[in-house]
Amino acid sequence: MTYLALVPAAGSGSRMGALSGRALPKQYLPLAGQPMIWHALATLCATPAIDHVFVVLAPDDAHWPAAAMATLGPKLHVLRCGGDTRAHSVANGLRAMAGELGERMDIGNDWVLVHDAARPCLTVAMVENLIAEVGEDDAGGLLAVPVADTLKRADENGRVRQTVPRDGLWQAQTPQMFRHRLLLDALDFAPQVTDEASAIETLRLAPRLVAADASNLKVTYPLDLQLAEWILQNRGKPCR
Ligand code: CTP
Ligand code: MG
Repeated sequence: MTYLALVPAAGSGSRMGALSGRALPKQYLPLAGQPMIWHALATLCATPAIDHVFVVLAPDDAHWPAAAMATLGPKLHVLRCGGDTRAHSVANGLRAMAGELGERMDIGNDWVLVHDAARPCLTVAMVENLIAEVGEDDAGGLLAVPVADTLKRADENGRVRQTVPRDGLWQAQTPQMFRHRLLLDALDFAPQVTDEASAIETLRLAPRLVAADASNLKVTYPLDLQLAEWILQNRGKPCR
Protein backbone atom coordinates (compact mmCIF):
# COMPACT_ATOMS: atom_id res chain seq x y z
CA MET A 1 0.00 0.00 0.00
CA THR A 2 1.23 3.49 -0.81
CA TYR A 3 0.68 6.46 1.51
CA LEU A 4 1.05 10.04 0.34
CA ALA A 5 0.62 13.22 2.41
CA LEU A 6 -0.93 16.45 1.16
CA VAL A 7 -0.62 19.64 3.20
CA PRO A 8 -2.79 22.57 2.09
CA ALA A 9 -0.91 25.78 2.96
CA ALA A 10 -2.44 28.40 0.68
CA GLY A 11 -4.42 30.24 3.35
CA SER A 12 -3.70 33.76 4.56
CA GLY A 13 -4.41 33.26 8.27
CA SER A 14 -6.90 36.13 8.33
CA ARG A 15 -8.17 35.45 11.88
CA MET A 16 -4.62 35.35 13.23
CA GLY A 17 -3.64 38.45 11.24
CA ALA A 18 -6.63 40.44 12.45
CA LEU A 19 -5.64 39.90 16.10
CA SER A 20 -1.85 39.85 15.87
CA GLY A 21 -1.49 42.69 13.37
CA ARG A 22 1.10 40.62 11.44
CA ALA A 23 0.76 40.33 7.67
CA LEU A 24 2.83 37.13 7.42
CA PRO A 25 0.53 34.15 6.68
CA LYS A 26 0.20 32.18 9.91
CA GLN A 27 1.83 29.04 8.52
CA TYR A 28 5.11 30.98 8.36
CA LEU A 29 5.01 32.55 11.83
CA PRO A 30 7.98 31.56 14.01
CA LEU A 31 7.26 28.60 16.29
CA ALA A 32 9.84 26.76 18.39
CA GLY A 33 12.70 27.93 16.20
CA GLN A 34 11.15 27.16 12.80
CA PRO A 35 8.36 28.50 10.58
CA MET A 36 5.12 26.88 11.86
CA ILE A 37 4.58 24.78 8.75
CA TRP A 38 8.00 23.15 9.14
CA HIS A 39 6.81 21.12 12.13
CA ALA A 40 3.94 19.25 10.42
CA LEU A 41 6.03 18.70 7.30
CA ALA A 42 8.91 17.34 9.41
CA THR A 43 6.59 14.86 11.14
CA LEU A 44 5.09 13.65 7.87
CA CYS A 45 8.52 13.34 6.22
CA ALA A 46 9.74 11.39 9.26
CA THR A 47 6.89 8.86 9.08
CA PRO A 48 8.39 5.76 7.43
CA ALA A 49 5.09 4.61 5.88
CA ILE A 50 4.71 7.87 3.91
CA ASP A 51 6.52 7.91 0.56
CA HIS A 52 5.92 11.50 -0.54
CA VAL A 53 4.78 14.72 1.14
CA PHE A 54 3.18 17.41 -1.05
CA VAL A 55 2.66 20.95 0.15
CA VAL A 56 0.19 23.19 -1.70
CA LEU A 57 1.12 26.89 -1.74
CA ALA A 58 -0.70 29.88 -3.14
CA PRO A 59 0.60 30.56 -6.67
CA ASP A 60 1.92 33.99 -5.59
CA ASP A 61 3.38 32.84 -2.25
CA ALA A 62 6.50 34.93 -1.60
CA HIS A 63 7.25 33.60 1.88
CA TRP A 64 8.01 29.88 1.38
CA PRO A 65 11.24 29.39 3.38
CA ALA A 66 13.07 27.14 0.93
CA ALA A 67 16.29 27.03 2.96
CA ALA A 68 14.58 25.81 6.14
CA MET A 69 12.65 23.22 4.17
CA ALA A 70 15.73 21.82 2.44
CA THR A 71 16.52 20.03 5.71
CA LEU A 72 13.42 17.84 5.29
CA GLY A 73 14.88 15.74 2.49
CA PRO A 74 13.70 14.32 -0.82
CA LYS A 75 10.17 13.26 0.22
CA LEU A 76 8.97 16.86 0.13
CA HIS A 77 7.40 18.27 -3.08
CA VAL A 78 6.18 21.85 -3.49
CA LEU A 79 3.03 22.49 -5.57
CA ARG A 80 2.11 26.10 -6.30
CA CYS A 81 -1.53 25.49 -7.13
CA GLY A 82 -3.50 26.67 -4.09
CA GLY A 83 -7.10 27.76 -4.65
CA ASP A 84 -9.46 30.27 -3.07
CA THR A 85 -10.77 27.77 -0.50
CA ARG A 86 -9.17 24.92 1.42
CA ALA A 87 -11.20 22.40 -0.57
CA HIS A 88 -10.00 23.91 -3.86
CA SER A 89 -6.40 23.84 -2.65
CA VAL A 90 -6.75 20.14 -1.76
CA ALA A 91 -8.46 19.25 -5.05
CA ASN A 92 -5.84 21.15 -7.06
CA GLY A 93 -3.11 19.40 -5.10
CA LEU A 94 -4.62 15.96 -5.70
CA ARG A 95 -4.59 16.67 -9.45
CA ALA A 96 -1.05 18.08 -9.46
CA MET A 97 0.56 15.35 -7.36
CA ALA A 98 -0.02 12.70 -10.01
CA GLY A 99 1.91 14.79 -12.55
CA GLU A 100 4.66 15.53 -10.03
CA LEU A 101 5.25 11.79 -9.57
CA GLY A 102 5.85 11.52 -13.31
CA GLU A 103 2.60 9.62 -13.97
CA ARG A 104 4.59 6.63 -12.64
CA MET A 105 1.36 4.68 -12.34
CA ASP A 106 -2.28 5.13 -11.42
CA ILE A 107 -2.32 6.66 -7.95
CA GLY A 108 -6.11 6.42 -7.66
CA ASN A 109 -5.91 3.66 -5.07
CA ASP A 110 -3.10 5.23 -3.07
CA TRP A 111 -3.97 6.62 0.35
CA VAL A 112 -3.70 10.39 0.73
CA LEU A 113 -3.35 11.84 4.23
CA VAL A 114 -4.49 15.48 4.13
CA HIS A 115 -3.09 17.54 7.00
CA ASP A 116 -3.44 21.23 7.88
CA ALA A 117 -0.23 23.27 7.77
CA ALA A 118 -1.67 24.95 10.86
CA ARG A 119 -1.54 21.78 13.05
CA PRO A 120 2.14 21.81 14.00
CA CYS A 121 1.96 19.42 17.00
CA LEU A 122 1.24 16.27 15.00
CA THR A 123 3.45 13.32 15.98
CA VAL A 124 4.65 10.29 14.02
CA ALA A 125 2.79 8.11 16.56
CA MET A 126 -0.50 9.90 15.77
CA VAL A 127 0.01 9.35 12.03
CA GLU A 128 0.92 5.70 12.50
CA ASN A 129 -2.09 5.13 14.74
CA LEU A 130 -4.40 6.66 12.12
CA ILE A 131 -2.94 4.46 9.37
CA ALA A 132 -3.23 1.33 11.54
CA GLU A 133 -6.79 2.03 12.68
CA VAL A 134 -8.14 2.90 9.24
CA GLY A 135 -6.46 -0.12 7.69
CA GLU A 136 -8.16 -0.83 4.36
CA ASP A 137 -11.51 0.70 5.33
CA ASP A 138 -13.37 1.71 2.15
CA ALA A 139 -14.57 4.98 3.70
CA GLY A 140 -11.19 6.11 5.07
CA GLY A 141 -10.93 7.95 8.36
CA LEU A 142 -9.69 10.89 10.39
CA LEU A 143 -8.20 11.84 13.72
CA ALA A 144 -10.79 13.35 16.06
CA VAL A 145 -11.45 14.05 19.73
CA PRO A 146 -14.69 13.37 21.64
CA VAL A 147 -16.27 16.66 22.74
CA ALA A 148 -15.60 17.25 26.45
CA ASP A 149 -17.50 20.48 27.14
CA THR A 150 -21.24 20.95 27.52
CA LEU A 151 -22.46 22.59 24.32
CA LYS A 152 -24.90 25.50 24.05
CA ARG A 153 -26.73 26.74 20.98
CA ALA A 154 -27.04 30.55 21.06
CA ASP A 155 -29.98 32.68 20.02
CA GLU A 156 -29.52 35.93 18.10
CA ASN A 157 -29.06 37.86 21.39
CA GLY A 158 -26.15 35.78 22.61
CA ARG A 159 -28.33 33.90 25.12
CA VAL A 160 -28.67 30.15 25.46
CA ARG A 161 -31.44 28.80 23.30
CA GLN A 162 -30.65 25.15 23.90
CA THR A 163 -28.18 22.76 25.51
CA VAL A 164 -26.96 20.33 22.89
CA PRO A 165 -26.20 16.82 24.18
CA ARG A 166 -22.54 16.10 23.55
CA ASP A 167 -23.06 12.33 23.34
CA GLY A 168 -21.57 11.06 20.12
CA LEU A 169 -20.09 14.44 19.14
CA TRP A 170 -16.45 14.62 18.04
CA GLN A 171 -14.18 17.45 16.94
CA ALA A 172 -12.58 16.64 13.60
CA GLN A 173 -8.83 17.07 13.27
CA THR A 174 -6.35 16.17 10.58
CA PRO A 175 -4.80 14.08 9.08
CA GLN A 176 -7.84 12.78 7.25
CA MET A 177 -7.03 9.83 4.96
CA PHE A 178 -8.86 8.61 1.89
CA ARG A 179 -8.06 6.88 -1.37
CA HIS A 180 -6.87 9.42 -3.96
CA ARG A 181 -9.58 8.83 -6.56
CA LEU A 182 -12.42 8.69 -4.03
CA LEU A 183 -11.35 11.96 -2.42
CA LEU A 184 -10.99 13.78 -5.73
CA ASP A 185 -14.43 12.55 -6.86
CA ALA A 186 -15.92 13.63 -3.53
CA LEU A 187 -14.39 17.13 -3.66
CA ASP A 188 -15.56 17.60 -7.25
CA PHE A 189 -19.07 16.59 -6.12
CA ALA A 190 -19.10 18.72 -2.95
CA PRO A 191 -16.58 21.59 -3.33
CA GLN A 192 -18.17 23.71 -0.56
CA VAL A 193 -17.01 21.48 2.34
CA THR A 194 -14.62 22.57 5.10
CA ASP A 195 -12.94 19.20 5.56
CA GLU A 196 -12.32 16.13 3.43
CA ALA A 197 -14.50 13.83 5.55
CA SER A 198 -17.54 16.03 4.82
CA ALA A 199 -16.98 15.53 1.11
CA ILE A 200 -16.77 11.74 1.58
CA GLU A 201 -19.98 11.87 3.68
CA THR A 202 -21.86 13.43 0.77
CA LEU A 203 -21.15 10.17 -1.09
CA ARG A 204 -23.01 8.36 1.74
CA LEU A 205 -19.84 6.86 3.13
CA ALA A 206 -19.05 6.98 6.85
CA PRO A 207 -15.37 7.74 7.55
CA ARG A 208 -13.91 6.13 10.63
CA LEU A 209 -13.24 8.31 13.69
CA VAL A 210 -9.85 7.57 15.23
CA ALA A 211 -9.39 8.97 18.73
CA ALA A 212 -6.55 11.47 19.01
CA ASP A 213 -5.86 14.06 21.68
CA ALA A 214 -6.20 17.79 22.08
CA SER A 215 -2.47 18.41 21.62
CA ASN A 216 -3.01 18.13 17.85
CA LEU A 217 -4.60 21.58 17.95
CA LYS A 218 -5.14 23.90 15.00
CA VAL A 219 -3.47 27.27 15.31
CA THR A 220 -6.11 29.86 14.49
CA TYR A 221 -5.59 32.69 17.01
CA PRO A 222 -2.47 34.13 18.73
CA LEU A 223 -3.17 32.17 21.93
CA ASP A 224 -3.08 28.91 19.94
CA LEU A 225 0.45 29.76 18.84
CA GLN A 226 1.53 30.06 22.48
CA LEU A 227 -0.16 26.74 23.33
CA ALA A 228 1.55 25.03 20.38
CA GLU A 229 4.92 26.42 21.47
CA TRP A 230 4.37 25.03 24.97
CA ILE A 231 3.35 21.61 23.62
CA LEU A 232 6.38 21.37 21.33
CA GLN A 233 8.77 22.44 24.12
CA ASN A 234 7.30 20.18 26.81
CA ARG A 235 6.52 17.05 24.83
CA GLY A 236 7.70 13.88 26.49
CA LYS A 237 7.89 15.43 29.93
CA PRO A 238 5.64 13.76 32.52
CA CYS A 239 2.19 15.33 33.07
CA ARG A 240 1.53 16.44 36.65
N1 CTP B 1 -5.85 26.67 3.25
C1 CTP B 1 -5.51 26.49 1.90
N2 CTP B 1 -6.14 27.21 0.91
C2 CTP B 1 -7.08 28.14 1.24
C3 CTP B 1 -7.45 28.32 2.60
C4 CTP B 1 -6.81 27.57 3.59
O1 CTP B 1 -4.65 25.67 1.60
N3 CTP B 1 -7.64 28.86 0.26
C5 CTP B 1 -5.13 25.91 4.28
C6 CTP B 1 -4.46 26.79 5.33
O2 CTP B 1 -3.22 27.30 4.85
C7 CTP B 1 -4.35 25.85 6.51
C8 CTP B 1 -5.53 24.91 6.35
O3 CTP B 1 -6.01 25.10 5.02
O4 CTP B 1 -3.16 25.09 6.48
C9 CTP B 1 -6.61 25.16 7.39
O5 CTP B 1 -7.17 26.44 7.16
P1 CTP B 1 -7.31 27.58 8.26
O6 CTP B 1 -6.80 27.11 9.58
O7 CTP B 1 -8.68 28.15 8.16
O8 CTP B 1 -6.22 28.64 7.73
P2 CTP B 1 -6.47 30.02 6.98
O9 CTP B 1 -7.58 29.85 5.99
O10 CTP B 1 -5.16 30.47 6.49
O11 CTP B 1 -6.92 30.96 8.20
P3 CTP B 1 -8.21 31.93 8.25
O12 CTP B 1 -9.41 31.05 8.00
O13 CTP B 1 -8.16 32.52 9.63
O14 CTP B 1 -8.01 32.96 7.17
MG1 MG C 1 -9.61 29.37 6.66
